[in-house]
Amino acid sequence: MKNKISIIGAGMTGSTTAHWLAEREIADLVLVDILEGMPQGKALDLQEALPVIGKDIKVIGSNDYLLTADSDIVIITAGLPRKPGMSRDDLLFTNAEIVRYAVMETVKSSPNAIFIVLTNPLDAMAYLTLKVSQVSPNRVIGQAGILDSARMRAFIAMELNVSVENIHCYVLGGHGDEMVPLTRASNVAGIPLENILPQDKLAAIVDRTRKGGGEIVSLLKTGSAFYAPAVSVAQMAEAILKDKHLIVPASAYLDGQYGLKDIFFGVPVQLGRNGVEKIFEYELTDAEKSALSSSAQGVAENIAKLR
Ligand SMILES: NC(=O)c1ccc[n+]([C@@H]2O[C@H](COP(=O)([O-])OP(=O)(O)OC[C@H]3O[C@@H](n4cnc5c(N)ncnc54)[C@H](O)[C@@H]3O)[C@@H](O)[C@H]2O)c1
Repeated sequence: MKNKISIIGAGMTGSTTAHWLAEREIADLVLVDILEGMPQGKALDLQEALPVIGKDIKVIGSNDYLLTADSDIVIITAGLPRKPGMSRDDLLFTNAEIVRYAVMETVKSSPNAIFIVLTNPLDAMAYLTLKVSQVSPNRVIGQAGILDSARMRAFIAMELNVSVENIHCYVLGGHGDEMVPLTRASNVAGIPLENILPQDKLAAIVDRTRKGGGEIVSLLKTGSAFYAPAVSVAQMAEAILKDKHLIVPASAYLDGQYGLKDIFFGVPVQLGRNGVEKIFEYELTDAEKSALSSSAQGVAENIAKLR
């Protein structure tokens, strides 16, 4: 039987996720949006692209959640993106209403789905998805860490003129400007980052990574990043459906790990057919612990406002 992925919100990130997923040919796709005709038009356009790339999947667009029934994965991208000058947290209450509705509507006909959340503020929206859906915590994952790490990898590749494939970075913590790029665990072909880049260059890359989302928002003027966030979601969906046991940084429900409880937070997770199979704990220095704790405080404050 074919896999089915439903994408709620067919805007910039939702439709680009559909594009990256279609390239992978791993599931039939359903795009749902409240805008009349828009998800139908984008789905048909994508379906018409498939003969050119030789991929045999079905892509359906709808304003009706009924078509999402029996999804293996539900991807939540519905909600407002930030505007220049806004933080992700400024979206909290508006997007909470949208996400709450999207999760309620999808979980009733896809009770066994795994939810991948993209809507911001990410960690709080993943938490809300868990509470509204009442699925087990391993079945809700927020996308942040693959994107944030990819940004850091891209900046290092630009600086060193080395293939992106040689660069491994791990950005943990909440998906906000307090995120924690773990420079000590990051490396270029096994060489620790701290040995290959001068201190000031590394500090500048860490800073640019933290503000990477805002940099794109300021350039675009309307809307936020979509190519890199969308391909990050596609990688997670592929790891799940192919049961790859892939370890990536992502926002997961913590129940004591890293000293944190009842919170979604960016940590290394292993993804397979059951969603989050395992959470890995790094041994952290005091400085790293304190950076993570200040990031966690911001996430916890957002979550508290939703209760
Ligand atoms: N976690 C991340 O790494 C990351 C990265 C990029 C964007 N985002 C977030 O993802 C969200 C979407 O961003 P975007 O660029 O795709 O925005 P967008 O405005 O292009 O698309 C959002 C879509 O959601 C739709 N929508 C609103 N309410 C809906 C509902 N109840 N049901 C179905 N669809 C609904 C809108 O009509 C719109 O088409 C934003 O909150 C943004 O901040 C997160």
